[in-house]
Amino acid sequence: MSVEATLILVKPDGVARGLTGEILRRIEAKGYTLADIRFVNADRELLAQHYAEHEGKPFYEPLLEFMLSGPIVAIKAEGERVIEGFRSLAGATDPTTAAPGTIRGDLGRDWGLKVQQNLVHGSDSTLSAERELGLWFA
Ligand code: RTP
Ligand code: MG
Repeated sequence: MSVEATLILVKPDGVARGLTGEILRRIEAKGYTLADIRFVNADRELLAQHYAEHEGKPFYEPLLEFMLSGPIVAIKAEGERVIEGFRSLAGATDPTTAAPGTIRGDLGRDWGLKVQQNLVHGSDSTLSAERELGLWFA
């Protein structure tokens, strides 16, 4: 048994639509612990570091513009296998086809070629989680 920590972000669409509470509810209902939480107006430098792996991809600039468009809620969540557990709660990247029952599948949709507006981010490995928690909870 190993307790992990992961970075979860409620992206600007989730905050603007008033879904922060619903997303936190799902994290808690699954049994994970909210270890830290903060409201962040991210700047370009933080987002460039966070999304470094996507630099140069066609969706990179629209993604950064979107993430700059409003406040974000950053959450440090803890629990056994919380990294893969939260990815499972979040659902597939494209909210239109994400499975019902998931955050993206139940609450998200494509608002016009905007796959990036998919409500949440979750770290995808222990290495990314450590790196990303260091950026958002510096
Ligand atoms: P995340 O990192 O946000 O948890 O999401 P993810 O692993 O499911 O998706 P990833 O491939 O890491 O992509 C990061 C974010 O970029 C936006 N995206 N837009 N084709 C597109 O327009 C496109 N593809 C990806 C999404 O916001 C995605 O969550
Ligand atoms: Mg990712």
